Amino acid sequence: MTSLPTSLPGGTWSLGDLTVTRFGYGAMQLAGPGVMGPPADHDGAIAVLREAVDLGITHIDTSGAYGPRVTNRLIREALHPYPDSLRIATKVGAIRDEQGGWPPARTPEDVRRAVYEDLETLGLDVLDLVNLRLGDARGPQPGSPAEPLEALVELQRQGLIRHLGVSNATAEQVAEARAIAPIVCVQNMYNLAHRHDDKLIDELAADGVAYVPFFPLGGFTPLQSSALSAVAARLDAAPMSVALAWLLHRSPNILLIPGTSSVAHLRENAAGAGLTLSAEDLAELDAIG
Ligand SMILES: NC(=O)c1ccc[n+]([C@@H]2O[C@H](COP(=O)([O-])OP(=O)(O)OC[C@H]3O[C@@H](n4cnc5c(N)ncnc54)[C@H](OP(=O)(O)O)[C@@H]3O)[C@@H](O)[C@H]2O)c1
Repeated sequence: MTSLPTSLPGGTWSLGDLTVTRFGYGAMQLAGPGVMGPPADHDGAIAVLREAVDLGITHIDTSGAYGPRVTNRLIREALHPYPDSLRIATKVGAIRDEQGGWPPARTPEDVRRAVYEDLETLGLDVLDLVNLRLGDARGPQPGSPAEPLEALVELQRQGLIRHLGVSNATAEQVAEARAIAPIVCVQNMYNLAHRHDDKLIDELAADGVAYVPFFPLGGFTPLQSSALSAVAARLDAAPMSVALAWLLHRSPNILLIPGTSSVAHLRENAAGAGLTLSAEDLAELDAIG
């Protein structure tokens, strides 16, 4: 970890040689319904991205598959030329079909095309972090990540990618990927109620590898739990704030990328993630999963 100061909850983390705030922002919710097409409120989406940077967030997660290309273009419109401190993470390995599905696209040619498209739509010469998204819309599925990962390693050698991560991956795939190339983060589904990766998180923490939970607030089905509501009521806080604060407490290698299309929710989350949770609060929350 580095000592770069931030007033955001959780401080900072080093993704390889890149420093990011542990409190980041996930841009997926800025696209239209079903993560297809433009946002209903274009100016509102631009305002959310500018607010994220104004709050001091230096880690924004996106993908060419969002829209497709919609969130990348919004990020460019809102924030380019980018602040020196801003790190934009993308994901390759899935495309969109006409029904809004997320079919895998992981041939070497597919992932190369996606990287070139991210560079173009984001207006960058180099991508800070590219996650290879594995599995499918149902979740992680077995299978070797070697072929697409080696194609990304080649692009990294060419200077088009700084760092690599994997997403939607099994523990076996994470291990295989780490044997092929330095992997700075794993982006998998994880939140108070979905704790399948508990062991993986601890192993990655021991090795200094970041774990970036997607759907930290439950994604399309917001987190609901009587224990979460009870702790939130006791702290006079929003349940979403408690869920984010719990993640920051859970492990130092967890980086938050909660999504929102609302400036008010973004501010609430950035403040609320800094809640102090007592041992009693943590025990009640831990029992949810
Ligand atoms: N690797 C992958 O396969 C993968 C898959 C999914 C997502 N992701 C990444 O993970 C990021 C986070 O996931 P996500 O955005 O889908 O889900 P999320 O962060 O778990 O939840 C977002 C939802 O929570 C709502 N929300 C946020 N703050 C709130 C608040 N303070 N009060 C009430 N509701 C609130 C948002 O609605 P409002 O807009 O109304 O605030 C939105 O509907 C994405 O943006 C994306 O970058 C990656």
